[in-house]
Amino acid sequence: MPFFLHWGRDLGPLPDAALAQLADAIVPAVSPSSIDAPLRLSLLPVESEGWSGLPGIAGANDAGPLSPAFVLAGLDRSGERDIRVRLVDEILGLEVLVELGIDAGGVLESRIGVTNRAPAAFTLSRLAATLPVPARARELLDFTGRWSHERRPQRRSLEHGSWSRQTRHGRTGHDSPFVLVAGTDGFGFQRGEVWALHVAFSGDQHLSADSHATGHTLLSGGELLAAGEVRLETGQSHQSPPVVAAFSADGLDGISSRFHAHVRERHPLAARKVIVNTWEAVYFDQDIDRLAALAETAASVGVERFVLDDGWMTGRIDDRRALGDWTVDPIRWPEGLHPLIDRVAALGMDFGLWVEPEMVSTDSDLARAHPEWLLRGRSDRLPQPWRQQFALDLGNPDAFENILGQLTALLDEYPIAYLKWDQNRDLLGGSSLRQTRATYRLMDALRERYPGLEIESCSSGGARVDLGVIERTDRMWVSDTNDPLERQSIQRWTGLLLPPEYLGSHLGAPTAHTTGRTSDMGLRLATAFFLSAGIEWDLSQADAADLRAISTWIARYKEFRALLHSGRTVRADAADPALLAHGIVAPDASEAVFAVVCLAAPRDAVPAPVLFPGLSPEVTYRIEVLDLGAGPRVMQDLAPPWLGSGNLTLPGRVLGEVGIAMPLLLPAQALVLRFSTV
Ligand code: DGJ
Repeated sequence: MPFFLHWGRDLGPLPDAALAQLADAIVPAVSPSSIDAPLRLSLLPVESEGWSGLPGIAGANDAGPLSPAFVLAGLDRSGERDIRVRLVDEILGLEVLVELGIDAGGVLESRIGVTNRAPAAFTLSRLAATLPVPARARELLDFTGRWSHERRPQRRSLEHGSWSRQTRHGRTGHDSPFVLVAGTDGFGFQRGEVWALHVAFSGDQHLSADSHATGHTLLSGGELLAAGEVRLETGQSHQSPPVVAAFSADGLDGISSRFHAHVRERHPLAARKVIVNTWEAVYFDQDIDRLAALAETAASVGVERFVLDDGWMTGRIDDRRALGDWTVDPIRWPEGLHPLIDRVAALGMDFGLWVEPEMVSTDSDLARAHPEWLLRGRSDRLPQPWRQQFALDLGNPDAFENILGQLTALLDEYPIAYLKWDQNRDLLGGSSLRQTRATYRLMDALRERYPGLEIESCSSGGARVDLGVIERTDRMWVSDTNDPLERQSIQRWTGLLLPPEYLGSHLGAPTAHTTGRTSDMGLRLATAFFLSAGIEWDLSQADAADLRAISTWIARYKEFRALLHSGRTVRADAADPALLAHGIVAPDASEAVFAVVCLAAPRDAVPAPVLFPGLSPEVTYRIEVLDLGAGPRVMQDLAPPWLGSGNLTLPGRVLGEVGIAMPLLLPAQALVLRFSTV
């Protein structure tokens, strides 16, 4: 059986003879009270190998659980980077195809297919991509969260046993484990060896670290299958979603670089337009005059795309009704959306529209005509309502065609450049697998029919942020909170996996609707600047100074977006968690933009100089404050002298190792700095 020789630092080219020697060199001794042969785990570890940890595959037929023992039946290599391994268990009639590919940047992708060749049906209960990590990986990082507080890191030490995360939301979830990282002691953004795994799937899933008394530590992940959900009759197959893995010898920033390159290569994006989104500006109060005024002000400050959020459909005056009826409300929009879209186009912006195609309200024509299309569990009972709505059973071909037809009618009638695709509930019944696959098919069908159409993935904010949905969408709404302090953390950690240009970030009202906290313009602008930026604020409430600041911010964004959205994401390991520094360094390291953010009162009266990692050690940079339209508030008797001089130049090595003194930022303030090559 094939097994992993090494997952870690690049060992350089090794001739086959050296690989064979290495394989021999790591055959372990046989310990007392164990199987009589050395225990070497295959790439699909199972009980019959002597492994008593979490298996790579598990299942049963009607007679009971099966314990497969595979042998290698075939091995195809295509090029240097892709390999297909065929495993069979002749007695049980099971065939497995493990496909492994490693991209140029070092991201490993694994997909596993299972085919039942036996005369009896086989029920698959677990299928996991499994990767070994060395014993020196003693710490774990993964994520949890809730609505408006997504991707909150949690850390623990890795002891014998399993740290196992399972999600059962029928969507990725606000508390998604997101990325599971094992690393050496004290790993951070810049330091430590780290091994990371992510399941590229938007339904129920599992991610585990399993550390065993045999001396093996495995990371594993895959979709979480419900009992009886995957029953394979003779000749039928099941295909797992991709699981992606990356290693870095230089901390979490190295993991981000690898994942970002992987995403950017597979799914390149056009320049990210500045958006105005109507949700927190007007909620359901959709009035053409009010929206036209918003469009006008938005265009005057440089916005490029107008997105009409929830509230435009027939009868949708609140969130209790009308999901499923994707027609324009004739009362509020007697001439359809044309007058608004024409106005938006005349102002030089393109138009985006909110939809929630996977959902249905009981108070809708669709539910009245087809109550049987509401997604139910096997008991045929409806799940609990959630935001007064239910999921539509998109696995039902008639329901699928109906929604596809309604969306197609909209896209044919109106020049819609962008759909904000929302999903606002846990399924709590019905098959997560079937529903997720049907949703993907619906997105794929639309993309095929409308090749230029951009889709934003949203799910009650950030409950569907993963590499499965990003294959078929262009932007993630990472959270419903526009509170910049919350966002600093959410964005920092979402950026572990996804490059900034795929992540939406909006300038909200001074007082955040989700937290009631008031923040200065400077922090709000600096927080949205780095990502796919937009505005979600009733601009009739902004005064002339606010609008001037927003114009400057948008002008800078347009100037810097090519750099921000192609460069390397870097984050300093903060000595004081109240003071963060993060930045984007150009691929050739010729320029960079950093933000220094003071989240709360710093520990020290005069904090240590801030380090700027990721710059080229030999290159000398000029450091200047970047004016985004509103700067930070400080409290100090004297600013650091370099700020006044305007001619600070230092080599990257010095900036990364010694750093520079910052002005004394008050809590909830940010300073944005530009680094350019001298
Ligand atoms: C939840 C989303 O996250 C919000 O941005 C908004 O689109 C609402 N749904 C609309 O109902």
